[in-house]
Amino acid sequence: MYARVVAVVCTALLGAAAFLLPHNDARAGDVAKGPAPLVIGHRGAAAYAPENTLASIDKAAAMGVSWVENDVQRTKDGELVVIHDDSLRRTTNVKQLFPGRSPWKVKDFTAAEIARLDAGSWFGHQYAGTRVPTLTQYMREVEHNHQKLLLEIKNPQLYPGIERETLKVLGNEGWLDRRHLAGRLIVQSFSADSLRIVHDLAPAVRTALLGTPLVADLHQYAAFTDGINPSYGTISTGYVTSVHAFKGPHGRPLTVFAWTVDDAAVAQRVERYGVDGVITNKADVVRAALQAP
Ligand code: G3P
Ligand code: CA
Repeated sequence: MYARVVAVVCTALLGAAAFLLPHNDARAGDVAKGPAPLVIGHRGAAAYAPENTLASIDKAAAMGVSWVENDVQRTKDGELVVIHDDSLRRTTNVKQLFPGRSPWKVKDFTAAEIARLDAGSWFGHQYAGTRVPTLTQYMREVEHNHQKLLLEIKNPQLYPGIERETLKVLGNEGWLDRRHLAGRLIVQSFSADSLRIVHDLAPAVRTALLGTPLVADLHQYAAFTDGINPSYGTISTGYVTSVHAFKGPHGRPLTVFAWTVDDAAVAQRVERYGVDGVITNKADVVRAALQAP
């Protein structure tokens, strides 16, 4: 009995000591270590292969990266394609093939024109001939690789109706069944309006809002989004804890995926903040830093 009382008192004292740890302690305020965060390959494996191409997700797959991120936009004739910038200039040879078409906006080119572009040579000659994939081609490769997808609807203000069209492609490719919805698909955007549309059209789809909204506004977003995906430099333990305190439309705490982390020390820092995922161009570096699977 005496020993039991001593044990209880000691536990209480240790708890109080932990509570009183000074704020300059390295771990003070950090969240207790849970499972390692998910590691998500930004634009595929963007440090090692041309971003947002099939080669990039194949590279991620070869590295054992199960989650990849992409960016979806729309051509002049309504095809959804996977590319980050709203212009084709940086990541293709569009200037050479179509010199008179400045500023080479994705929305001003047809799918057939974009299919002619080389989206690999800018990154390395070994990738010459790599194409800008359509979303359909991309989904088939993700499926083929048994990967999971963080799909970003990019610049939705330029493409009215892109949410419904994206969901149509996902449905056609079998990605709106229970198995994919449960653990293989998250739709993200910087646009809360776009995510609200996705949620209204397909309430079972998990969504995440890019950015760092005010904690005071989180309750509004929690009505239609399951996560907040902020830039790593904008967050703290307090912010992550505040996000986790809200439940999303599927009854689970909001998640936090931080981007774009390519540095081991930064990856470890955001892990201490308690993030659920780390979006990275260098999955090998982050995985080693976090001892993630
Ligand atoms: O997934 C996060 C990140 O992709 C958001 O920024 O510009 O790379 O699309 P960006
Ligand atoms: Ca993106």
